[in-house]
Amino acid sequence: MAYTCSMAASSITPRLALFLAIFASLQHLYVSYYEFQVGDNDGWVVPSENDSKKYNDWASKIRFTVDDFVRFKYIKDSVMAVTPTDYERCNSLYPNFFSNNGDTIFKLNHTGPFYFISGVAGHCERGQRMIVKVISQQKDDYASVAGGGRSIGASNLVIILIHFVLLYLVSYLF
Ligand SMILES: *[C@@H]1O[C@H](CO)[C@@H](O)[C@H](O)[C@H]1NC(C)=O
Ligand SMILES: *[C@@H]1O[C@H](CO)[C@@H](O)[C@H](O)[C@H]1NC(C)=O
Repeated sequence: MAYTCSMAASSITPRLALFLAIFASLQHLYVSYYEFQVGDNDGWVVPSENDSKKYNDWASKIRFTVDDFVRFKYIKDSVMAVTPTDYERCNSLYPNFFSNNGDTIFKLNHTGPFYFISGVAGHCERGQRMIVKVISQQKDDYASVAGGGRSIGASNLVIILIHFVLLYLVSYLF
């Protein structure tokens, strides 16, 4: 099948298609790569006595979507991803994931709940544990970037910058 693309033609369709393609790919980038620091500035610590739901309270305020990251910052502690049963029992013997390097970035790579506990004896029992519920990405996440309280990491700022540069360039095509 022969297809001729004439640059002389003033048809707007190819340009519009290009614009939409760029926009669609950027929209995809926009909803990726969010990183949330667990516990915000407090980091990943044993909660105070009257705050044993600290991390679940924190997590329940955030809408996590697939491919978001949670970042754990801690000193002389550790973080594990465990099964629901091991979460309930604070059992640190069979983690699916373990890290104790003080700055752990964990990718939420599927939908559904993730169960995190501290691996240090006694810490989980005192509330240093968290369930993160992950939902699939929705188109309307685009809007939540502006007002949804999602923190924007450095990589997102770069993406937004690229977005504006591309929009600027695209504006020349029209
Ligand atoms: C509960 O925690 C808050 C803030 O950490 C503290 O000011 C308050 O005294 C605590 N209350 C009790 C009963 O421990
Ligand atoms: C998510 O990551 C874990 C650990 O790296 C891996 O075992 C698992 O297969 C991944 N799941 C998906 C759906 O990619």
